[in-house]
Amino acid sequence: MSKIELKHIDKFYGKNHILKDVNLTIEDGDFMTLLGPSGCGKTTTLRVVSGLEKPQNGTIHMDGKEIVNAAEAHFAPPSERDLNLVFQSYALWPHMTVRENIAFGLNIQKLPKDEVDRRIKDALGRMQIGQYVDRYPSELSGGQQQRVAIARAIASEPHLLLMDEPLSNLDAKLRVDMRSELKRLHTETGTTMIYVTHDQVEARSRFSAKASSFRWHLRWSCTTTPQTCTLRTSSATRASTLLTARQRFPLPV
Ligand SMILES: Nc1ncnc2c1ncn2[C@@H]1O[C@H](COP(=O)(O)OP(=O)(O)OP(=O)(O)O)[C@@H](O)[C@H]1O
Ligand SMILES: [Mg+2]
Repeated sequence: MSKIELKHIDKFYGKNHILKDVNLTIEDGDFMTLLGPSGCGKTTTLRVVSGLEKPQNGTIHMDGKEIVNAAEAHFAPPSERDLNLVFQSYALWPHMTVRENIAFGLNIQKLPKDEVDRRIKDALGRMQIGQYVDRYPSELSGGQQQRVAIARAIASEPHLLLMDEPLSNLDAKLRVDMRSELKRLHTETGTTMIYVTHDQVEARSRFSAKASSFRWHLRWSCTTTPQTCTLRTSSATRASTLLTARQRFPLPV
């Protein structure tokens, strides 16, 4: 339930130019996949959108409101962006149980206890990990922790959900289950989602429900060749260039 527009975003780490003139529009309710090889800047893009990193150039608008204007040194804090991020590294609080990890953000929002309990139960149920509600992260497998991280993000019911390779640590069957759960969540809630993966098969299989409206924005380094899609772009041969080409895919069901 948010439209996001990135315009002319540049991000440097020291002298390394990681994001180069990124222009990206994610329509309200879209489920957008960011696909690209390791190190191409996918996580950095999510961190810039979420406010954990400040770009050196460019603007970002959320629902028409300017949240970043680098030229004017305007960077809205993450808490004002109505979004949540599933980190690639889970980022669970080790000293809190699963319930406490999820409740933490909800309590900051001052939600009533009944509502907090309902959301925790719903989110854990979706991720099929309700039985672990009183365990600590160290008592869970990597895949279970990954699902807690997703549950924590969806429990906050953000307008924009950013997910950084959220299923990377799951076995094949669970990945299929979780994909359909995320798809169902997207359909039910209309939450705008940005989903990072470097797995082309996952990216192509994920969004069949609204295939006609999904766009891919791909970034290829010079060592990566587009294999499964033919993008109309003039910049495919340039190293480290975020492609702004768009193509609508007839995705497999
Ligand atoms: N805090 C940082 N300081 C310096 N360089 C960084 C920092 N974070 C990331 N980078 C560099 O920026 C580039 C992009 O990193 P990023 O984490 O966005 O890649 P990615 O596409 O998410 O890769 P992966 O698929 O491996 O997660 C990499 O070359 C990385 O080494
Ligand atoms: Mg990454």
